[in-house]
Amino acid sequence: MSSTTVVAPPAPDALRTNQDLDPQRLRAAFGVFPTGVVALAACVDDQPVALAASSFTSVSLDPPLVSISLANTSKTWPDLRRAGHLGVTILAEHHALLCRQLAGPVGQRFTGVDLTISPEGAVTLDEGLARFECTVYDEVGAGDHTLVLLRLHAVHHASDDTDAGHPLVFHRSGFGRLHH
Ligand SMILES: Cc1cc2nc3c(=O)[nH]c(=O)nc-3n(C[C@H](O)[C@H](O)[C@H](O)COP(=O)(O)O)c2cc1C
Repeated sequence: MSSTTVVAPPAPDALRTNQDLDPQRLRAAFGVFPTGVVALAACVDDQPVALAASSFTSVSLDPPLVSISLANTSKTWPDLRRAGHLGVTILAEHHALLCRQLAGPVGQRFTGVDLTISPEGAVTLDEGLARFECTVYDEVGAGDHTLVLLRLHAVHHASDDTDAGHPLVFHRSGFGRLHH
């Protein structure tokens, strides 16, 4: 038998408080939503720079757009946004350690990683499930983050290969994989 729970409207006072929306609780609530993870990377001043991001989302087919939400505290984004072209690589399920590496100390982010650098400076990881070359289309201030819209210029994707691999899944602050 089904049951219905009726939630009473919040008391007027409740509308004036954000006690249930403190960042730690929000982070935990957001974490129940599983995502993939990408590496956002480019050559800046002849050096590859990168960060890991789970906020990647496809946005539009025409024009081809994706988005990534980046913390305003990021020290790498101000460098990346200066690059002509940026690479986005969808990480595979065996990339959990690499993902931590891409979010860790800057000098070690590319240790042991095979890269491809496009003539325009987009950096992609050779073992990624899909790789995109992009330019910044727009940036929208969004609270303590900036929502970055990226326009795609090239896509590398083994679309016909069912053994191309499975994605790394980020869920509840940990890594998992898809179960079929
Ligand atoms: C699984 C995972 C997902 C992440 N997703 C994001 C993200 O979507 N946006 C973001 O700004 N930082 C994200 N980070 C943090 C960045 O990778 C990086 O650690 C952070 O930007 C600090 O480094 P920076 O100061 O060099 O930018 C993520 C880290 C991990 C491990």
